[in-house]
Amino acid sequence: MEFKPTQTPRLEWTGDALAIGFFEDVIELTGDLAQLDEKLAGTLKELINEVEFKGAVANSAITRVGSGSPIRKIIVVGLGKPDDLKLETLRRAAATCARLAKKEKCKTLGISFPICHTPDATAQVITEGIELALYQDRRFKSESDEKGAILEQIDLLGLSNTEAAITRARQISAGVILARELVAAPANSVTPITMAETAIALASECGFELEILEQEDCEKLGMGAFLGVAQASDLPPKFIHLIYKPAGIPRRKLAIVGKGLTFDSGGLNIKATGSGIEMMKIDMAGAAATFGAAKAIGHLKPDVEVHFISAVTENMISGKAMHPGDILTASNGKTIEVNNTDAEGRLTLADALVFADKLGLDAIVDLATLTGACVIALGDDIAGLWSTDDGVAAQFAIASELAGEKFWRMPLEEKYFEGLKAIHADMKNTGPRPGGSITAALFLKQFVKDTPWVHLDIAGPVWTEKDNNYNSAGATGFGVRTLVNWVLSDVVNS
Ligand code: BES
Ligand code: MN
Ligand code: ZN
Repeated sequence: MEFKPTQTPRLEWTGDALAIGFFEDVIELTGDLAQLDEKLAGTLKELINEVEFKGAVANSAITRVGSGSPIRKIIVVGLGKPDDLKLETLRRAAATCARLAKKEKCKTLGISFPICHTPDATAQVITEGIELALYQDRRFKSESDEKGAILEQIDLLGLSNTEAAITRARQISAGVILARELVAAPANSVTPITMAETAIALASECGFELEILEQEDCEKLGMGAFLGVAQASDLPPKFIHLIYKPAGIPRRKLAIVGKGLTFDSGGLNIKATGSGIEMMKIDMAGAAATFGAAKAIGHLKPDVEVHFISAVTENMISGKAMHPGDILTASNGKTIEVNNTDAEGRLTLADALVFADKLGLDAIVDLATLTGACVIALGDDIAGLWSTDDGVAAQFAIASELAGEKFWRMPLEEKYFEGLKAIHADMKNTGPRPGGSITAALFLKQFVKDTPWVHLDIAGPVWTEKDNNYNSAGATGFGVRTLVNWVLSDVVNS
């Protein structure tokens, strides 16, 4: 698929499908649109009237144009009220048009949308919406379903000189797709070993430095919390640390830490039927977003140093499994009574955060499919955000808005740490059910000293059961775009 920015007016564009964006309630066919309608023998007006198209967000329609016309199909798509126009609206509208064009077997698609913010930003989100909407993961199907024509060329009308923005969008989309593929692949396909292989491949693709700590290395560093989780698996744990260093002096130094449970059975507190145990291949979505962001950043090459970290393992059962009640010692010396082996993510993250904290960076973000409680609180579309630093939290608010990914800031309510008090150890790994995503965040906070830190609980949005705009059913690659925007952002660290 090729994206081509062009100054060709929509009146003169020729190809299979022309998509026009309309603002709500201003569906006037005046100026060039009147001329276009005339050229198409009144088809545009007919379509708008027939489907009572008003330009509301998410509304769209497509129809055939009479033969002999320079275009085969015309698509109208709603953009809502002009004052409410957001980049995300255009990302979604572009996805809608691409899906329609694909379904109608079009090879070429012309997109005529208004500019939002800047031509570059507009071209970027249109490209992202189309790339992400058309991606289909058929790696585990025995047959491909590509019948007939596939979209070959997208012309971005009125957006000339946006080639660099289009390239950026494609690099970011490739990162999102890597994250989707890692999350979608089952636990008999993505394992700690293959995650390490993926890191090796990324390092050679992007020129990253790479350090993979094996079990013995983790033992030497005293990573008792991570290794406690790993001890029942037949597969070796892998502590992965990829480093992107810019050519010059880095403006900032950051760490992205992802929860990397390639499967979470719950351990001896095994997940019961109905708990979604068969979905627990997604429990490495934090690590997947970390790798996806690494892939994008490795190509975008910002002047920021970034450490991509994941303590990867499975949470299994065997004769070697942690007993509920075991006391583990993390690499910062803190002791943890494991009152629930299913609260394993925070144990692996504890040692990963201690490791990241020791690097002396400007900020650390962790992403984790950490708690069902966060899904109960915020639903499937919104991730939870906790932070010790208002400045970095504000950077995330901007980064996520541009990305079209939703986060809601949650409280680090210190009083709730009382729920994690243990009699003989420094803390338990699980508190009472109420506020379960908050106590999980407070637990993680014990492993970060002074580095400004953001914790993202992404258990909800990393997966979708049905097609949703540019996300097809399955893994969404959630988090990658926000992470990339955050790393690229010019906001000075507070
Ligand atoms: N990986 C799960 C959280 C999860 C739940 C992710 C649903 C995605 C969808 C996590 O390890 C877990 O099991 N959390 C427990 C914590 C509890 C034992 C305190 C939970 O949320 O039930
Ligand atoms: Mn668990
Ligand atoms: Zn888990």
